[in-house]
Amino acid sequence: MVSRMKDKLKKTLSEKRYKHSLGVCDEAVKLARIFGADEEKAYIAGLLHDCAKGYDTDKQIELCAEYGIELDKITLACKAVIHAPLGAAVAKDKYGIDDEEILEAIRCHTVAKENMSLLDKIIYIADMIEPMRDFSGVDKLRKTAYEDIDKAFIMGLKQSIVFNAEKNKIIHPDTISAWDYMLGDTKIERGHKT
Ligand SMILES: [Fe+2]
Ligand SMILES: [Fe+2]
Repeated sequence: MVSRMKDKLKKTLSEKRYKHSLGVCDEAVKLARIFGADEEKAYIAGLLHDCAKGYDTDKQIELCAEYGIELDKITLACKAVIHAPLGAAVAKDKYGIDDEEILEAIRCHTVAKENMSLLDKIIYIADMIEPMRDFSGVDKLRKTAYEDIDKAFIMGLKQSIVFNAEKNKIIHPDTISAWDYMLGDTKIERGHKT
């Protein structure tokens, strides 16, 4: 089953993207082992997280309409994130994945969201630290990922927020929600209590 999945994926992605997927898969399994997440789910989510990235943007938007995925204005404005919700639908439809935890990890791997599961965080971070990734601070993030996944997740969110802000790009509201949840949730709740 896995080898068929790999063959199919290889045909739809560029060689570089396929290699990236294998790298994410590998990192995700290692992180799952360390933090006690399901290794098999981490394997499949890591392998398939970019399974919709081989389609060009127009095709991605068209497929979202076919699958009934609603794209709000902001998501449409940051087109690079569309492959994530679409990827969950493609993983289900074309790769036969029914497990909702795997599908959710694929769905939120790009912009993140509030209150992510351990598997969600593992895929998010694995995507950022796989061996081909090369940005300033990646080594620190790699080291932290294997020590404290929540700390690494916050670092990863910061990396993404700062990267986009510096380029005057939109920061997806789900990324901000993830950030606020990780940093301020308890304080905000407390603040609202009378
Ligand atoms: Fe992606
Ligand atoms: Fe990726």
